[in-house]
Amino acid sequence: DEVRRAVLDAGKELGFFQVVNHGVSAEAIRDMEAVCAEFFRLPAEEKAAFYSEDTDKPNRLFSSTTYELGDEKYWRDCLRLACGSPVGDTKNNWPDKPKKLREVVEKFVEPTRGVGMELLRLLCEGMGLRPDYFEGDLTGGDVIINVNHYPPCPAPGLTLGLPPHCDRNLITLLLQSTVPGLQVSYKGDWINVESVPNAFVVNFGHLLEIATNGVLKSIEHRAMTNAALARTSVATFIMPAADIPIGPAEELVGEGNPPRYRTVTFDEFMRVYKTVGARRESVEKAFKL
Ligand code: OGA
Ligand code: NI
Repeated sequence: DEVRRAVLDAGKELGFFQVVNHGVSAEAIRDMEAVCAEFFRLPAEEKAAFYSEDTDKPNRLFSSTTYELGDEKYWRDCLRLACGSPVGDTKNNWPDKPKKLREVVEKFVEPTRGVGMELLRLLCEGMGLRPDYFEGDLTGGDVIINVNHYPPCPAPGLTLGLPPHCDRNLITLLLQSTVPGLQVSYKGDWINVESVPNAFVVNFGHLLEIATNGVLKSIEHRAMTNAALARTSVATFIMPAADIPIGPAEELVGEGNPPRYRTVTFDEFMRVYKTVGARRESVEKAFKL
């Protein structure tokens, strides 16, 4: 009961919270962080095989191409992996170097998805939705992992690692690394998120805001760079199936509380998201009723 209340209160107040004692073993987390950092230390020729600028490719290595609406570039490389649940054969689409990568990612992503689903269940209970509301198609897409790599930056004052954005999915679980850098929008300011060992930083994506009719908000965040240390963070995104409609839950709509967002399929949502960009205001404008 206490945890249910705490996640809902933190979710409503800040849209961000950290979770410890979540059941994903310290070993699975350590191995994941280590293998991801090791991937980015591979010689460029070896990584190049996986590099692609095709945004439709579910598994690829790229460099600051996703937020390229203007001419701005960001100080970030990203390894994106699409993971089935269970992982099964989807791991064959991931890099085979470092040698342990596939095994380590599989052992990490399955329990991490489980934590995300448990949090969704707790949030549902707190909001008066049936606990399994998000089970099935609403969370039936691949789990997407973004391994964000921010090399040391010679001019951190001039360049962000990731621009201000909201996530597009339902719920995100981030290992932010021992090198801090994540900042969250709060009352017009940016606040630093403290680095807590083995903790997941959890936040809600646009789709959860739509599905909960705005009870849970998708909050803008960004990543800072620093001059001294490379930073590698691991974001795990729980995604819906591609072609199902997502709209405010009927249980959260009623008299005096009309639906605040239009119902969209995930495909349609992504088409709009890719054109308007990831800023909270523009996505809100596109989907608010
Ligand atoms: C993300 C993200 C923050 C970070 O991948 O969506 O917000 O600290 N990452 O790397
Ligand atoms: Ni994000």
